[in-house]
Amino acid sequence: MSSSLHHLKATDFGKNFQWGVAIAAAQNEGAANQYGRGPSIWDVFSRNGNNIKGKGKPTIACDFYHRYKDDLLLVKALGFNSFRLSISWSRILPDGTGKINKEGIDFYHRVIDECIKLELTPYVTLYHWDLPYELEKKGGWTNYFINKWFNRFITVCAEAYGSKVKNWIILNEPFAYTSLGYMLGTHAPGKKGIDNFFPSVHHTTIAQAEGARIIRQLVPYAYIGTTFSFSEIIPHSDKKEDIQAANRVDILMNRLFIEPALGKGYPREETFRLTERMHLHNKEWKYIERLHFDFDFIGIQYYFPLVIKYNSLIPLVQASEVKAKTRKVPHTDMGWEINADSFYRTIKRIWSYDAVKEIIITENGSYFKDEIRNGVIDDAARINYFQQHLQAVLAAKNEGVNIKGYFAWTLMDNFEWAEGYNARFGLVHVDFNTQLRTIKNSGYWFRDFLSA
Ligand code: BGC
Repeated sequence: MSSSLHHLKATDFGKNFQWGVAIAAAQNEGAANQYGRGPSIWDVFSRNGNNIKGKGKPTIACDFYHRYKDDLLLVKALGFNSFRLSISWSRILPDGTGKINKEGIDFYHRVIDECIKLELTPYVTLYHWDLPYELEKKGGWTNYFINKWFNRFITVCAEAYGSKVKNWIILNEPFAYTSLGYMLGTHAPGKKGIDNFFPSVHHTTIAQAEGARIIRQLVPYAYIGTTFSFSEIIPHSDKKEDIQAANRVDILMNRLFIEPALGKGYPREETFRLTERMHLHNKEWKYIERLHFDFDFIGIQYYFPLVIKYNSLIPLVQASEVKAKTRKVPHTDMGWEINADSFYRTIKRIWSYDAVKEIIITENGSYFKDEIRNGVIDDAARINYFQQHLQAVLAAKNEGVNIKGYFAWTLMDNFEWAEGYNARFGLVHVDFNTQLRTIKNSGYWFRDFLSA
């Protein structure tokens, strides 16, 4: 892909392209202890103040629960035609299983109805990391019964919203929540070690396929996808040990979840036999079909590439990252390398799987330290990031990749997980003391881009 920016036009992406913003329940809704909602693992993980930067908690967040009408008007005003939201499992089923919370069901009806009224096509994510705490007490994603609990949750959602919602996303970034939450312990629920990681991976690959089958069965004409975080993995040098280390990271980050979903089973490589580590070796034939679903679309979530070198001290992968700062390459204030060519290559790579029929970019965005000056947020770096990455999408699309839409991450600054409230990714600035929203110049840029 050439990195020279020609003048981008939204119409170049085609008439029916889905232009959206994405949000997630735990990051935006707030009202965490209200209206019958049960606690999620993020409420509990943030309680002691040590796990989240700045001691942030998702209790109030952006107060989207009460302000959704105004916020959806903003989405509309910025020119988008689609809106991606997630459903808080513990708002629907406070204990994760058992009794349904009618107030929770009603809340998402109101949000979905408002979207429809404003002609914003809703895309509903079923799991964006906020597991009900009651289920975590029983082991969460490491417990074999999680699949039964998850299937029930999906069934309740499909029965409640299936007549209104056509577009469904089963999971948000399985690698992120299993690795950060169940191996490294930096995200909720804060569990560590491969003995937690592997079962959580396997139950997750079952969940993504079974969840999709339930939606297929209960929602006529549903358009079903699931999302994955992808990062191009670049070896630090030509040395064999760096190349092999990069390959191991690639298997974990880019292949572990999508390949079972596409019917290929878990990745099998002579040098890194994950399947065996999951004690599935002899039984794998049983699982390949269970893990497979014919997804209508694959959601690509892309933020950065990674440069990887061999490191014997790191368990399992024996690899570590060479940070963008150390390499002195352009990066966001998150420390993530900015590299739109890598995004382009990532899209092409995912498209090269035969079983991928359609692609939606379900998240892409950046955090830069924004400064308000006289009520204006001139976030030129974020605009630049979007322009370069949209250029990559267009280049891939023009070469025949069937890309149906692009969702910016995210509508407004929100609870950025372990980073708390400081890492601001929004097109709209939020003052968390007053809940005042201020559209950033990146938001205005989208408005102009989408209306031209
Ligand atoms: C997640 C979002 C998150 C964003 C920025 C994605 O991994 O889906 O919830 O806020 O990245 O870190």
